[in-house]
Amino acid sequence: MTDERLAIIVLAAGQGTRMKSATPKLLHEIAGVPLIGHVLATAGQLDAAYTITVVRHERDRVQEVVHDHFPSSVIVDQDDIPGTGRAVEQAVAALPEGFDGDVLVVSGDVPLLDAATLTELIAAHRASRASATLLSAVLDDPAGYGRIVRTDDGMLDRIVEHKDATDSERALREINAGVYVFGLAQLRDQLAQVTTANAQGEKYLTDVIGLLRRAGSDVAAVPVSEPWLVAGINDRAQLSEAAAKLNALIVRGWQLNGVTVVDPATTWIDLKASLAEDVTVLPGTQIKGATSIARGAVVGPDTTLVDCEIGENAEVKRTDATLSVVGAGASVGPFAYLRPNTVLDADGKIGTFVETKNSHIGAGSKVPHLSYIGDTEVGVGSNVGAGTITANYDGVNKHRTQVGSHVRTGSHNVFVAPVRIGDGAYTGAGTVVRKDVPSGALAITVTPQRNMAGWVEENRPGTDAATAAAAANKSGE
Ligand code: UD1
Ligand code: MG
Repeated sequence: MTDERLAIIVLAAGQGTRMKSATPKLLHEIAGVPLIGHVLATAGQLDAAYTITVVRHERDRVQEVVHDHFPSSVIVDQDDIPGTGRAVEQAVAALPEGFDGDVLVVSGDVPLLDAATLTELIAAHRASRASATLLSAVLDDPAGYGRIVRTDDGMLDRIVEHKDATDSERALREINAGVYVFGLAQLRDQLAQVTTANAQGEKYLTDVIGLLRRAGSDVAAVPVSEPWLVAGINDRAQLSEAAAKLNALIVRGWQLNGVTVVDPATTWIDLKASLAEDVTVLPGTQIKGATSIARGAVVGPDTTLVDCEIGENAEVKRTDATLSVVGAGASVGPFAYLRPNTVLDADGKIGTFVETKNSHIGAGSKVPHLSYIGDTEVGVGSNVGAGTITANYDGVNKHRTQVGSHVRTGSHNVFVAPVRIGDGAYTGAGTVVRKDVPSGALAITVTPQRNMAGWVEENRPGTDAATAAAAANKSGE
């Protein structure tokens, strides 16, 4: 049910300088979702009356992602005045006249925060007389964060940013998580007082806390139980730490759902992937995008799957696959490369050092070794010989190869597309198939083999080969 007394402001206008990236900080991903996507998903669970996202840096790119993850969020553009305080000030100005509830402020760069923690924060705020309640955490390494400064009797007094802090303030280990609930009227009043007189020349939202205290209001800090919940991402080291933490949670979740993950440390599973009971994931495996893996399948070791569908009891070993479907009981790898739109039906095989693309390989059909199969349709029960290449590209256009059912093609063939090999046909080793092969025919293009007797002894006298040949000929072999 919508909380009519709640508005959420999501801060997403900052530049993210410390990422040193052409990609806006909040569009960097963990578990396959942009940082801002995690925050918006959590915000969405609170069902607030209004959700406002503040943008500025790369505003079009950020706005697009906001729309994807939270279509009903209002977008507010931050002006030239920098700082989290200015961002909130402009968001507050966009709230409808009649709204008089609480304002929850979350940062787009705090992705691991969950809805339960936010719900508790809002409840704590509403149960108190405080005009602001914020989340804090005690960190072993508080560097970079705003520090919570308390009075001698332990009351929250103000927040000092790392860059403005004295040495003794920097020694404080309780940090501001950047997540707050404010009463709207008090927030509005104090934001008007905030200046840019600080080390960064920004309007700090954090200054509101000290100002509220000076004005005689109560403010409170609620410590989180687990500091990782409020980890802020400012640089790539923090990005990888948050990714590892989230991944550990995801892997553990699947393990408790009946998935065997042999080595959680080297297994990466995106948030949108789904795995059935009795799936086995071997070390060094990345399961990305909307990949789904059915019961009994074994994936890995050293396998990357992006947006793939793996059927029941299939086996996918040392493979890189994108947008591909592997049928039940089928086998892929080791060392296979499945490019987009590969469909391998039940009990089929794509074997060792095989690359496929835009191809459908029918039930029970096999491409076991050293092949490139592109733009191809293979029927059921066929076997494509070792070292087969579909020559699908004429230098200008791509053409399709069709291989029927129960076909047996020889080793080291080239299928020059467009070409069709009929049901039950055979091809000999080394065949270059340029013309359609009728059903049941044997196609061969090789010229007959010619043996020139005595050639080595004549032309390579004195070599080991010539000596061996002479000895063999003498003994009548
Ligand atoms: C901020 C807090 C700090 C806290 C930390 C927690 C301030 C002044 N400091 O610092 O006390 O410990 O978060 O992670 O608030 N943003 C805007 N407009 C701006 C600047 C930033 O919308 O003008 C957004 C950013 O996109 C980001 C969030 O606000 O999502 C926080 O900004 P960031 O620059 O990361 O602040 P921190 O230095 O981490
Ligand atoms: Mg930050």
